[in-house]
Amino acid sequence: MKKITIAEMAQHVGETVTIGAWIANKRSSGKIAFLQLRDGSGFVQGVVVKAEVPEELFATAKGLTQETSVYVTGVVKEDERSSFGFELGVTDVKVIHEAKDFPITPKEHGTEFLMDNRHLWLRSRKQHATMKVRNEIIRATYEFYNNHGFVKVDPPILTGSAPEGTSELFATKYFDEDAYLSQSGQLYMEAAAMALGKVFSFGPTFRAEKSKTRRHLIEFWMIEPEMAFVEHDESLEVQEQYVEHIVQSVLKNCKLELERLGRDTSKLENVKAPFPRISYDEAIEWLNNNGHDDIKWGDDFGAPHETAIAENYDKPVFIVNYPTGIKPFYMQPHPERDDVVLCADLIAPEGYGEIIGGSERIYDYELMKQRIQEHDLDEEAYAWYLELSKYGAVPHSGFGLGLERTVAWISGAEHIRESIPFPRLLNRLYP
Ligand code: 4AD
Ligand code: MG
Repeated sequence: MKKITIAEMAQHVGETVTIGAWIANKRSSGKIAFLQLRDGSGFVQGVVVKAEVPEELFATAKGLTQETSVYVTGVVKEDERSSFGFELGVTDVKVIHEAKDFPITPKEHGTEFLMDNRHLWLRSRKQHATMKVRNEIIRATYEFYNNHGFVKVDPPILTGSAPEGTSELFATKYFDEDAYLSQSGQLYMEAAAMALGKVFSFGPTFRAEKSKTRRHLIEFWMIEPEMAFVEHDESLEVQEQYVEHIVQSVLKNCKLELERLGRDTSKLENVKAPFPRISYDEAIEWLNNNGHDDIKWGDDFGAPHETAIAENYDKPVFIVNYPTGIKPFYMQPHPERDDVVLCADLIAPEGYGEIIGGSERIYDYELMKQRIQEHDLDEEAYAWYLELSKYGAVPHSGFGLGLERTVAWISGAEHIRESIPFPRLLNRLYP
């Protein structure tokens, strides 16, 4: 018997095939049993008709418990009623392992319970769909950067420097030295850009943020492109093309998954470059004129501010040129103003918040040295970084996209915890 996956069924209509699967759910009457089968590649209904199979087989099918693993054999049939388009007319079932009392049943469960059972919860339809969307974003990311002449570079995870400020670092011992888990690979990516031109990284990022919001993880994955000879406005164009590419790829390649997630895809279709740009100054002014008196020039935006601004647009919006004082040490000053820097945050629609932070970088040696001192950074640890502006310094820009916030937005998740297989949260290291 030919062994195939559920995803391959379309190529085997009319054939008898065997699929290794789990029983996601089951319904049966005296005459017919409907097996909801899943095999990782997809979900499909298996139909066991009492009158058409041996008596023991029907009894076995009726007794199958949730998450029991089986080899199921049957005829692939087209089925217009299911969105998947196929079903399996079952002719044989071999039980591999009988699962008893699977803790996650089709009834409603509380979030903490589901999170405690994350290792099992991943099997459910919605979680499966979210992981497929995540995978498509990752695939489209590599596609985009490979098609645009970028080289993938892997910065270290154990580091001695802190690009985004020292307050949120995970410290660890590196033999006799102090080290930190990477909170951004950017500084290393700048060195790599001076060697390879256009580079991108994709790796784990650690932030000991004591934030318990639906947008914050302690461990998340970030994509960090860095480009030599690229100025701030040119970097924004790369960002909007990249975000367009991932959204349009998910729309094209994850139709079933978005449907299973109940995602309103009309809100994603319009995500095409160019995206609107407003300045930080304009954003503050708009907020103050629209009922947000709790923020003034020089403050950072909170989630409600970002959400309110994003509601004015049906695409992500760039907020550009933030005050120098609320941004990291490495950002290039505005050419005509000394109070703002050449940077942008990209704010996703529908309240998902900042998905990209980026900027042009300082490349003047004296200014960089001054900033390192002003920010009280350990000059020895940053000596190598400072040398980048000593030997053939050039304008360069880059940015970081948070994978999980992007997954949460595109899949329409309520909380970021469902956008990563095993979330690390303020109070959660298990499972
Ligand atoms: O704005 P951030 O801190 O920028 C940087 O780290 C720069 N060094 C990137 C660069 O220019 N190469 O972080 C970038 C993105 C944010 O926009 C957000 O999407 C995500 O990383 N992010 C988080 N995602 C989940 N949980 C957290 N705690 C996050 N902190 C940042
Ligand atoms: Mg940021």
